[in-house]
Amino acid sequence: MQTLIFSIIGGLFAFVPALVANPGAVVAGGYGKIDFGKNFVDGKRILGDGKTISGYVGGILIGTVIGFIILEIMNYLNFAIKGYVPVTLLLVSLFLAWGSLTGDMIGSFIKRRINMKRGQRGNLLDMWPFVIFAFLFLWIAEPHFFFALYGNFIDIVIILVITPFLHRGVNILAYKMHRKDVPW
Ligand code: CTP
Ligand code: MG
Repeated sequence: MQTLIFSIIGGLFAFVPALVANPGAVVAGGYGKIDFGKNFVDGKRILGDGKTISGYVGGILIGTVIGFIILEIMNYLNFAIKGYVPVTLLLVSLFLAWGSLTGDMIGSFIKRRINMKRGQRGNLLDMWPFVIFAFLFLWIAEPHFFFALYGNFIDIVIILVITPFLHRGVNILAYKMHRKDVPW
């Protein structure tokens, strides 16, 4: 029972790279529209002004670095993970952050297709794509790590359930700090 609880909490901590990438993109964002301001075949923006190259790259870097530090500490303490070499943990962190912001971009792509404006509240479309793609990227890049931590799928369900709350909290904070125009 105790081992299970530790492994569940460990899985949550190991997901930090994906979680940090989003606020990282808010901080680093603003320069160079990923879709170059262009429209899709439906005449609507491909992604919109909210998806920038500096946000994408900067968010991935910030998520990767912060996540790597956390994973290294966990590994050092034998907390949920042990015996991983640094390069593996760096890749785990990179792919979680990369998958996270790629999923975030796909969420925006879908939002534009269904007529939702940039920054319009997308509810689960603002939250689940980044979680799903972070896990997908990790699963493809580091399957051993993925199954060691998330093989029982408990953490995946917990993360899907708690991200809407986390997301809301973080966005209210970003709004108060004038990093976002709307509190969601
Ligand atoms: N951001 C960015 N580049 C990214 C992701 C995010 O520059 N790849 C920045 C933008 O300033 C964006 C903010 O982070 O406005 C918040 O991100 P998000 O909520 O994902 O974008 P929205 O502006 O809400 O746009 P969308 O409707 O497309 O989700
Ligand atoms: Mg948004």
